[in-house]
This record gives sequence, C-alpha cells and structure tokens, in this order.
Amino acid sequence: MLGVLELSYREKIGHWKHGGIVGVFGYGGGVIGRYSDVPEKFPDIAHFHTLRINMPASWFYTTEALRGLCDIWERHGSGLTNMHGSTGDIIFLGTSTPELEPTFAELTNMGFDLGGSGSVLRTPSCCVGPARCEWACYDTLKLTYDITMHYQDELHRPMFPYKFKFKMAGCPNDCVASIARADLSIIGTWRDKIQINHDAVREYAKKGKDIQSDVINNCPSKCMKWDGKTLHIEDSECNHCMHCINVMPKALRPGKDRGACLLIGAKAPIMEGALLSSVLVPFIKMEPPYTELYELVDKIWELWGEEGKNRERVGEYIQRIGLGNFLEMIEVEPIPEMVAHPRENPYIFFEEYFEDDDEEGTDE
Ligand code: HEM
Ligand code: HEM
Ligand code: SF4
Ligand code: SF4
Repeated sequence: MLGVLELSYREKIGHWKHGGIVGVFGYGGGVIGRYSDVPEKFPDIAHFHTLRINMPASWFYTTEALRGLCDIWERHGSGLTNMHGSTGDIIFLGTSTPELEPTFAELTNMGFDLGGSGSVLRTPSCCVGPARCEWACYDTLKLTYDITMHYQDELHRPMFPYKFKFKMAGCPNDCVASIARADLSIIGTWRDKIQINHDAVREYAKKGKDIQSDVINNCPSKCMKWDGKTLHIEDSECNHCMHCINVMPKALRPGKDRGACLLIGAKAPIMEGALLSSVLVPFIKMEPPYTELYELVDKIWELWGEEGKNRERVGEYIQRIGLGNFLEMIEVEPIPEMVAHPRENPYIFFEEYFEDDDEEGTDE
C-alpha cells in the first residue's frame, strides 16, 4: 500500500483502475471494488476493495465491539480502516474478492451489517444528540436507528434513480452538517419559548459577559432586549438560530415543545451545482413510530423513483420540475417558510381552468 502511495506521490496520479463491481449475495451495495493499475509491481494490493459497515448511531462503541471488528478485519483484510467514512460508515479499507463473503458472514454473526453504496438509501447518521447534548430537540439516535431498520431493503438493494441520504441533527447547530450533506435533513427545533433562567443570565453578566454586544447585538432577528437586569426574548420573532443559547448554555435552552424541521435537496456540485437543503416541513413532532415522516418519505420516493432521471438527485429533480409541482404531487401545501423571498421574475405558470357555466369549456 505504502509502495503504491509513494509511486502516486512521485507521479502525481492515482494508481487505481476505473470502477470495480463486487459485493455479497443478496445485496446490491455495501462494497466498493477497487483494483490496482500496477498489480505486477504491488501484487498484495491487486485487489483492494472497501467494505462499508453500518456504524452504531452517533458512533458510540464498547471496546468489546471494536475488538471484535479488529479481529475480523485482521483475519480477512489489510488491517487498515477509516474511522469513519464521511457518510458515517466504518470503513474496512482493502481486501480481495474471495474474502468478501467470509468477512460479511463474520460481521453479521457479530451483529454488524453492511452500510449503503450505489443508488440506494445510504447509511443514515446523526449528531450525538440527547446522549450527551443539552440542546437536542429530539432523540437523533433513536430516529437514526429506526430509519435504518425501517428501510433496510432500500439500503441494501438499489431501487432509486440515484443515492439518497438522511442526516439527523438534534438542533440547528447541525453537528452532522445535515443541511449540506443529506437529501433529507432532519434538524431539531422548538416552537414555543426559549427557556430562560434569569438568575443564570445575571450570573453571566456579573462574571463579565457583555450581554449587550455578545448576545443582543448578534441576534439575527433583533428580537432580544437586555436592560442590565432582565433578558427579554420576543419569541414570535426568533428564528431559532441558537446563538444566544450557544453563548449562555447555563441560562438559556430550547423550548419545551420540541420536534424537527425537515429540509430537502442538499447535494454536491455534480451535475447542476451544489445545493443546501431547503425547508419542506417547518415543524414536525419526532416521536416513534414516526408515521408522518415515513408517509412523507414514501411519497417522495415514489414520485422521484418513478420520474427522476437516471442519476438525478432529488434536489435536481425538484429544480427541474419546480417546487410547486413537486409539492402538489407529494400533497404538501406551499407555505411562505419554504422560500427565502418570493420570485423576482414574472414568468408565472397558471393552471388552465374552466368556469362552471362556460359553455365552451369541458370538465373532462
Ligand atoms: C419609443 C420606443 C419604444 C417603446 C415605447 C418600446 C416599448 C417596448 C416595450 C413595452 C417592450 C416590452 C417590454 C417587456 O415586455 O418587458 C419592448 C420590448 C422590446 N423592444 Fe422596444 N420599445 C421602443 C423602441 C424599441 C427599439 C427602437 C427597438 C430596437 C431597435 C426595440 C426593441 C425591443 C426588443 C428587442 C424588445 C424585447 C426585449 C426582450 O427581449 O424582452 N424597442 N419595447
Ligand atoms: C448568429 C447570431 C445570433 C445568435 C446565435 C442569437 C442567439 C440568440 C439566443 C440563443 C437568444 C435567446 C433565445 C431564448 O432565450 O429563447 C436570442 C435572443 C434574442 N436575440 Fe439573438 N442571436 C443572434 C443574432 C441576433 C441579432 C442580429 C439581433 C438583433 C438585431 C438579435 C436580437 C435578439 C433579441 C431581441 C433576443 C431576445 C428575444 C426574446 O427574448 O424574445 N439576435 N438570440
Ligand atoms: S446538532 Fe445540536 S443537539 Fe446535536 S450535538 Fe450539535 S448542538 Fe447538540
Ligand atoms: S435563538 Fe437566535 S434568533 Fe432566537 S433569540 Fe436567540 S439569538 Fe435571537
């Protein structure tokens, strides 16, 4: 491995052949095949396939689990890993085709399954959430596990026009960067009042925090007031940016009526340019069995699965057919929260319709 990397360093080019299609029986993804283009020089890495292994939510491990994984990989692979792939998976980096099934058998024996690759639901991932964070507005770990189990079929067997990713963040700080790296970004939020502990605010002030310049003046919606003694938040104007809570974690925390905002469409530049996700549902309760979420996801997949072009991400599909048409087909009402500002051009489509009493018209 080091030999070929040194060669690549000298020649400034990669030494892997294009593509590679390998896997395990029953699944259409999870393994990324790779072959060296200089196998005679480095026979040990002539095959160098990668296995993606579905990590536990938020990457919590026992040493027992990690030792088990290491033992398996020592027996069947290069011993090199990536902890973790950007989507979240444990990456077993480098093995040969005949080792794939035995590795897979040992992994499943131990309770680990492969993650996703190809035109599938990719491995869902989440922030540390309520396991270690006071700001989590829903149980990101539970939802991540639930989505993973609920959609195992979609995860292992390619059935989509292209890849689809979920990421779960417990609050708008978005510690898994879901808004940039997931086709469906699920970001925790609240819809009542920010909880204020006034004594703790005064304590911050006493210890030298300049509340006016560090908090009030930085509030993007200018909805806070501080008279030196009492903090006032006009919650109806707050856009839940997290700034004040981030600055004074001992005094402020998200409200009690919590849930999440669903945003759709993020992707990297290819083909039509990079996208961040945009608001689809401003607020939805996030409690098991997550029926409302799954119903919406199923509608989106049915539509995009049927009409999405080959290798067209859902974000590009929405751009192509227009958000209005997309919403109509998944039966979601358009609302102001879905746009940053109204359109600036007048090229507006109207649906044709006929007056009831218009004799020329038809109802067909
Ligand atoms: C007093 C003289 C003129 C008046 C009042 C006038 C008025 C207009 C108006 C009202 C429009 C439609 C704009 C829109 O729909 O947004 C227009 C478009 C246009 N006019 Fe004129 N016009 C005048 C002279 C000219 C001349 C001298 C030319 C060319 C040499 C010209 C070329 C055009 C073109 C090419 C467009 C289409 C622009 C586009 O692509 O949207 N016009 N004009
Ligand atoms: C080889 C020469 C030309 C080429 C390749 C060309 C190409 C184009 C293209 C691609 C558009 C946009 C059409 C659209 O958005 O659907 C356009 C629009 C336009 N061109 Fe040309 N053009 C040429 C010559 C000219 C000349 C000589 C004039 C005027 C004297 C002209 C005036 C316009 C106008 C006014 C529009 C706007 C039409 C509208 O928006 O309705 N073009 N042209
Ligand atoms: S996204 Fe919010 S809830 Fe999740 S770990 Fe970050 S700060 Fe905590
Ligand atoms: S969360 Fe952001 S918008 Fe809301 S009050 Fe705090 S600083 Fe202002």
